[in-house]
Amino acid sequence: MIGNKIINFKQLDSTNDYIKQNIVDLSDGTIVVASQQTNGRGRRGNIWHSPKGNLYFSVLLKGCVNREDMFLLTMKSSLSIVLMMEQYGLKPKIKYPNDILINNKKISGILIESIGYKELEAVVVGIGINVNVMDFSNVDWKATSMKKETNETYHINDVLKEFIQCFNSIKDDNVIYENYLNRSILLNKTIIHNGKDYIVESIEKYGDIILMSDQETITVPSDELSISNFY
Ligand code: BTN
Repeated sequence: MIGNKIINFKQLDSTNDYIKQNIVDLSDGTIVVASQQTNGRGRRGNIWHSPKGNLYFSVLLKGCVNREDMFLLTMKSSLSIVLMMEQYGLKPKIKYPNDILINNKKISGILIESIGYKELEAVVVGIGINVNVMDFSNVDWKATSMKKETNETYHINDVLKEFIQCFNSIKDDNVIYENYLNRSILLNKTIIHNGKDYIVESIEKYGDIILMSDQETITVPSDELSISNFY
């Protein structure tokens, strides 16, 4: 269960960093929310611009997270965002591994960080959801928000509550996997890997990708795949 304790801040550097700095005092499932972040971080060292109006939060998971379950957590987090947005009538898709898009524009991103070297002590799942912000001219990628898509203004707390409900209600690993695949836009697309064209045949349960060309079928671990190019 997540969200038994929710700590709200007007401003933080980064909700992920706050949790990492205070990990000893925080309990499993705690959520830290900031109305804005001054040093919001994205994947691959990107800045996550975090003005007021969107939702920025991190979930702390302590114990019972194995390294093998990390992709399951990626799928569960992505799917929970998608299911939450579906409740509002939106139809987002997942760009592997965990970007949430509407019409190819990014509406949400996830930064999962693990703590502990040999043994995983804890995992921090940081989520940014574009809710009410309308202007993304300072962002390097195509972006949109729930408000941009629907012309409605949302209560940030309601969006968070809906996310928590979705996350806590999906428990079965196979259901998570099937629903993640259903919303994934990568399957059957052509991607360029090591200079060659491949069709994405499948996404495996632990995150590996199966790629097929005329000559071969290969398995590529997620961290070896750059999927900026697909069509
Ligand atoms: C991405 O690059 O797509 C991941 C973006 C993750 C942003 C969220 S906002 C809340 C949490 N705190 C951070 O500093 N980053 C994550």
